[in-house]
Amino acid sequence: MARISRKTDVTYESFGINPAEFYKDKFSCGTDFNPAAVTPSFELKLTWEKYTILEKTVGQLVEGRTEPLRVLDFGCGSGTFGKWLLHRFPDQLSIAGIDMSEACAADAKASGYDDALSADFLSGIPFPDKSFDFIWSMDVFGHIEFRHKDAVIADLARITRPGGTQLHGIETADIPYLICDPNDPNDYIRKYVYMDGHIGAETLDDVYQRFAASFEILEAYPWLVCPFIDAGNAIVNCPWPGYEEALCEFDTPGARQLADTMSHRYNVFLREALRASLGPIQTDERIAALIPDGPARAFIMEIYQGGGFSFVLVRRRPSST
Ligand SMILES: C[S@@+](CC[C@H](N)C(=O)[O-])C[C@H]1O[C@@H](n2cnc3c(N)ncnc32)[C@H](O)[C@@H]1O
Repeated sequence: MARISRKTDVTYESFGINPAEFYKDKFSCGTDFNPAAVTPSFELKLTWEKYTILEKTVGQLVEGRTEPLRVLDFGCGSGTFGKWLLHRFPDQLSIAGIDMSEACAADAKASGYDDALSADFLSGIPFPDKSFDFIWSMDVFGHIEFRHKDAVIADLARITRPGGTQLHGIETADIPYLICDPNDPNDYIRKYVYMDGHIGAETLDDVYQRFAASFEILEAYPWLVCPFIDAGNAIVNCPWPGYEEALCEFDTPGARQLADTMSHRYNVFLREALRASLGPIQTDERIAALIPDGPARAFIMEIYQGGGFSFVLVRRRPSST
């Protein structure tokens, strides 16, 4: 098999992966998650904040509504996010899910989703035009091949009512897929793709451009500020020399919990400070336009590198037909 020369050639097939087989059970985590048993210490963990960002967005949308909000969880996995929302906003949501994994769709249905389809959304998202008031995805866009992303975004716009919104939590990183040898089992990009299926990670600037073609962008910001990534991720990726040895010495569930709590605290603090100075759109291009070239800009760019995850909040233009 040849090396990859263009991003549009970065495909599951080029890495010898069959997506249906790969995702069959990979992200199915059953139905054990109990939203009523979430403890304050759990809520302090960094990764839990994905739930609270989603909850805050939905909370604003349901306020004052008399009809349930029509919601789609795009690439729903086992539906733990929706289960949390149903716990927080009982009777205020009608949630549908879609995932190519039958096991995931069954979990989501058992978790209280009104509907959960097992389908490949690349074949066209099987919902009529303007079906939803709100759509979210969490950790899904990094699993979509570059060649399909724009069509998927246009299809997501189609099924959203004009004025409806979407929140996407997206894996954002500049992964050098083009220097990779997809046939070499020791190639580190190949290992990265095989680990979770991240065939289409790209920068926040690229994500912004794609969504801007179909939506009005309300917010676009890196979620994690370097070096405050979650402990589990740091352990897998070992970002600094000597880190692995230190982890072997100190890694315990309690140490991870403390590290995550601190990371969460500093992420919230820094993100709020950055938002106050940069506004809700924080792409590299926007930062470059706002801050003159020099140490302050370099510092901000530096701390936004490496976190690997961003949020975009978008709205379908009210005038769209
Ligand atoms: C990392 S998981 C995230 C699951 C869930 N959103 C969560 O955060 O728990 C990515 C999900 O996208 C689904 N997926 C990937 N490509 C898909 C496709 N073409 N059609 C439907 N589902 C897809 C996978 O089956 C997987 O469950």
